[in-house]
Amino acid sequence: MRKLLALMLLPVVLPAIAEEASYSKDIRPLWEDRCERCHGASAPAYEDFIKDRKAYELDDKGPRMDSYESLLFFVSGPQAGSLVRRLDDGARSPGGQPGNMYRHLGRGEQRKENLKLFTRWVGDEGWIVKNAGELSPDEIGRIRAPK
Ligand code: HEC
Repeated sequence: MRKLLALMLLPVVLPAIAEEASYSKDIRPLWEDRCERCHGASAPAYEDFIKDRKAYELDDKGPRMDSYESLLFFVSGPQAGSLVRRLDDGARSPGGQPGNMYRHLGRGEQRKENLKLFTRWVGDEGWIVKNAGELSPDEIGRIRAPK
């Protein structure tokens, strides 16, 4: 009976799985391609970065985000909202201004596709463009970003 139920549910569950992006399959390769050179293993941890922000910026180094956990820090962790705000194309921000990491997503169509992939990962409901730290617990709860 359980098997039968599982079979009946399959067509409902499959499209949902196909649509959801994951860190390991989708975001990690994209991050390696577009973000790693400035946010990789040689970049400072966030707490060091904020102590000497200007010097690191001059050296083209942002805070380190080289693992699932350290990336989540900027998605749903202590700096929740930061990644979404920096990557948004401006469509959902009040002033229509894109975030300053948006251009690093690539050129032309590739940039749009990569933004879509990040949006699918975070989830449409969780793609809330606000400054880091301004998200309510309810809003943070809408962020998906699976491993
Ligand atoms: C050419 C270097 C460079 C590339 C490539 C780059 N970044 Fe950045 N990033 C920086 C620097 C420098 C900062 C710090 C200055 C600032 O806050 O704007 C930063 C800041 C950030 C922040 C804000 C962190 C905070 O303080 O809360 C996020 C989020 C971010 N980047 C995400 C990304 C993502 C995702 C990518 C890839 C799509 C990316 N960046 C590509 C250099 C880069």
